[in-house]
Amino acid sequence: MKKLLIIFIFSASALFANDVIHQRQGSMQDFNKLMRSATQILNDGETQGLEDIYTKIESIMIEYPNLFPNDSFEGKTKASQNIIEDRDAFNIIAQDTSDLAALAKIAASNNDLEAVQQHHQNLFGSCKSCHSRFKN
Ligand code: HEC
Repeated sequence: MKKLLIIFIFSASALFANDVIHQRQGSMQDFNKLMRSATQILNDGETQGLEDIYTKIESIMIEYPNLFPNDSFEGKTKASQNIIEDRDAFNIIAQDTSDLAALAKIAASNNDLEAVQQHHQNLFGSCKSCHSRFKN
């Protein structure tokens, strides 16, 4: 009986780890799609819809660091163990990225196309800063 319980707890935590991996990969796919839609809108010289997009990106990046519990680095994940070793740096990049999204949102609400474009470029820069250190 005790053995069964232990097996149950183990598989439950493995399932949970798997779930959180899917969730964070889904967040990245959403982030990627949102950036593409924003690029398209900007290329058309518009700002309509951008506020909503950057609001979503901001909340994705606020939530994102919570999706990396220590037991979620096995299996189908490209997340680097560096995240465990250097959580502060990882959290700062996520924080900076959500701050950039907030700035882009404000610029969009002011219809300041040039400022939005600048923040949008900086948001693209964040992919590389984070992936180069924290993605395998
Ligand atoms: C704060 C860090 C961070 C930032 C910023 C970041 N990423 Fe990621 N990204 C990751 C990590 C970590 C993974 C690997 C997650 C995993 O496999 O568990 C990843 C994975 C991905 C994936 C693969 C998702 C999948 O289906 O497995 C895509 C696509 C992606 N990122 C796109 C982007 C784009 C585009 C940007 C910038 C606009 C970006 N990311 C910014 C950390 C980040």
